[in-house]
Amino acid sequence: MKDAAPETAPETFYLKDYTPFGFEVQSVELTFRLAPGATRVQSRIHFAPKPGAANPEFFLHGEQLSLISAAVDGAPVTPTLTEGGLTCNVPDQPFVWEAEVEIDPQGNTALEGLYMSNGMYCTQCEAEGFRKITYYPDRPDVMSTFKVRIEGDEPVKLSNGNPTASGAGWAEWHDPWPKPAYLFALVAGDLVNHPDSFTTMSGKEVELNIWVRPGDEGKCAFGMEALKKSMKWDEDAYGREYDLDIFNIVAVDDFNMGAMENKGLNIFNSSCVLASPETSTDANFERIEAIIAHEYFHNWTGNRITCRDWFQLCLKEGLTVFRDAQFTADMRSAPVKRISDVIDLRARQFPEDGGPLAHPVRPEQFQEINNFYTATIYEKGAEVIGMLKRLVGDEDYAKAVTLYFDRHDGQACTIEDWLKVFEDATGRDLSQFKRWYSQAGTPHLKVSEDYADGTYTLTFEQSTPPTPGQPDKDPRVIPIAVGLLGPNGDEVCATRVLEMTEAKQSFTFDGLAAKPVPSILREFSAPVILERETSNAERAFLLAHDTDPFNRWEAGNALAREARVAMVLEGAAPDADYLDALQKLLRDDSQDPAFRALVLSPPSQSDIAQTLFERGHVPDPQKIFDAAETFAQTLAQQLADSLPRLYADTTVSGAYSPDAISSGKRDLNGRILSLLTRLDGGQQAARQYEDADNMTQQYAALTCLLKAEKGDAQSQAFFEQWKGDRLVMDKWFALQIASAAPETAASVARDLTQHELFTLKNPNRFRAVMGALAGHHAGFHHASGAGYRLLAENLIALDKLNPQTTARMCAAFQTWKRYDADRQALIRTELERIAGTEGLSRDTTEMVTRILD
Ligand code: ARG
Ligand code: ZN
Repeated sequence: MKDAAPETAPETFYLKDYTPFGFEVQSVELTFRLAPGATRVQSRIHFAPKPGAANPEFFLHGEQLSLISAAVDGAPVTPTLTEGGLTCNVPDQPFVWEAEVEIDPQGNTALEGLYMSNGMYCTQCEAEGFRKITYYPDRPDVMSTFKVRIEGDEPVKLSNGNPTASGAGWAEWHDPWPKPAYLFALVAGDLVNHPDSFTTMSGKEVELNIWVRPGDEGKCAFGMEALKKSMKWDEDAYGREYDLDIFNIVAVDDFNMGAMENKGLNIFNSSCVLASPETSTDANFERIEAIIAHEYFHNWTGNRITCRDWFQLCLKEGLTVFRDAQFTADMRSAPVKRISDVIDLRARQFPEDGGPLAHPVRPEQFQEINNFYTATIYEKGAEVIGMLKRLVGDEDYAKAVTLYFDRHDGQACTIEDWLKVFEDATGRDLSQFKRWYSQAGTPHLKVSEDYADGTYTLTFEQSTPPTPGQPDKDPRVIPIAVGLLGPNGDEVCATRVLEMTEAKQSFTFDGLAAKPVPSILREFSAPVILERETSNAERAFLLAHDTDPFNRWEAGNALAREARVAMVLEGAAPDADYLDALQKLLRDDSQDPAFRALVLSPPSQSDIAQTLFERGHVPDPQKIFDAAETFAQTLAQQLADSLPRLYADTTVSGAYSPDAISSGKRDLNGRILSLLTRLDGGQQAARQYEDADNMTQQYAALTCLLKAEKGDAQSQAFFEQWKGDRLVMDKWFALQIASAAPETAASVARDLTQHELFTLKNPNRFRAVMGALAGHHAGFHHASGAGYRLLAENLIALDKLNPQTTARMCAAFQTWKRYDADRQALIRTELERIAGTEGLSRDTTEMVTRILD
């Protein structure tokens, strides 16, 4: 602990301290008497001391509960209430614990435990929310069956498992599959359903429902299709069958995260399930499909096999993200999915891994586990599984995963269990591979090459910068997928996976007629930063000829980045060769439109800032912004003659469909429209806005118009049209800020926080405004510091209501050490202001402390 730590410094939990709970929970029965401000929860739990655990302490977690009564084997007891729970003297043989508590769902603005959203009861228990519902050993290694009775006037009352009985004012549910409390869920309210059914591989019929608020029935069809596709895919790809009679999904407006995989009763942020052509963009559709799949896949990777403790979170999350990415690749375009995922990894995970919040994929300590639902656990966790699969091969991956399901079904497991099935199935030693789970930081991989007498040698050196608590790193196993191209662009060596295990290691390729051009890290075979001195000519060559679509995109991306860096540092003009290459690609109809759209999408301004920082420069956000503008303007001018035709050629007409081909085409079309708007003053965009019959085109047109400062009328019309639709209004709020000039972004955001439709109570709305501000690189980092101040003020205000969402949003400050001394001082002031706030939550305290360190 640091010297200046206040007395109330939150407790730190360590992986090394793991001890099993001393009791088994044999069954749980819960009765809920619902009332908004005073819900009563009765629990009846069969406990049995574990043989061998001598006199274990009987401690139950509990927070924000009013204990009404407690009894052991029917006799009233008076437990000792402690900070965070209770202890009680209990028999040294099996016994029944009964308790009644009162809770306040209405007053629960943290949205953890049982809370109310628009008059509807719902729960969020992962990670440690169940302890706000009743006293319980709230840890994932305690698993039990649950029987739940819900009493209340709400027409719809749902819980986990299968419905067993219901009557006027009550309903009962039974979940036969032992589960940890974090998978508990309850929903009650005035809901309507979109029903369907699915017949599983063994012929069982499963009832499916998506439950929504009246009025949203029309936005369920796409999610339902996605669910059925997911169920089928998990049978085909992993042999996993669904295991209850019913599967319910509920859409909730106020939700801290995306969605939650509660057994048989998935609860979704409405933004992650409701979809219609008029209100959702192509990107929304794709994300909804992926999240429905993700939560469904958790039924096996997460629920049937869960985590022993929260340090093992990546065991379920990394694997489930990996599985949902495989699903999306199968449903849509595999290369496009891979490229998008890498863009996302670099935008969110790399900065985390390279900054003060860096932590291993399996962390060894935390104060608030909710702060570890991070890009590192999820996305890097998935990358680690991708590497494992690449190293052992597809067949052995399938064998190992089957062994995992066979061996560990019904258990709460660790990363050791996961790696052991791979070792047992393949005979490999994975002790070095395990460093991917224990060492934080993104490895840098330096490459040099040599060619002589037909032999080509690639030499790699790996090193990982220090991260908090980990000054030194050991070399990791890195699968490096490499192919070689001959001088004419033909592939002379197909993809080979080099298995690097040393700090420095060389690999040779024989029998080459000429010095080849290497294509390194194909498919982004490992989450590393590749450092290689190369020329723009070679990048352009790879962009034209590489057989690996990822590396073709990567070559284009590198060209774009170098061009941008030269503009910022040297005031250079946009690189002519790169502009040329872009134009060729743009006009090349043989290329997938979605791929062309990705090549055309420039590196983000934050990404350029990171690159400059890594190369020893202090990034100037305004200059980076200006370079982006100049580049787009120049590209538009050079393409002037062909833009109208390109626009027409890529316009998708006819009935809207969110499929991959049409949405790729619309993506490209939107990018062309934004170039065109730079030349025609918004005429085409205004026309598109008028004609649009779907949100993708309406939103794309509005974006172009607002950026060109020609969209006031449309923005007003958009507001009037959609002010009754929360999810569309989130887009409107975000767009006002995203399209603002750097010097006005903060004041636009400040005005929006005064808007009658702004509220701290809805995380989506808060994220729409504050997330858009943090995402406006030059606006957030404007030298005035107004962006920093506004975010800090709002974080302080939100923390009183909702610590979880506040803490997550603090990450906007994690890259602060990149910037100049003035900006650092401004940010430090705000971070210290947040840290010094009286009564600050432990969630936010932990985040701000880590960022400041
Ligand atoms: N397990 C959920 C998911 O992957 C995330 C829920 C996390 N919620 C939280 N409050 N930490 O999809
Ligand atoms: Zn998940």
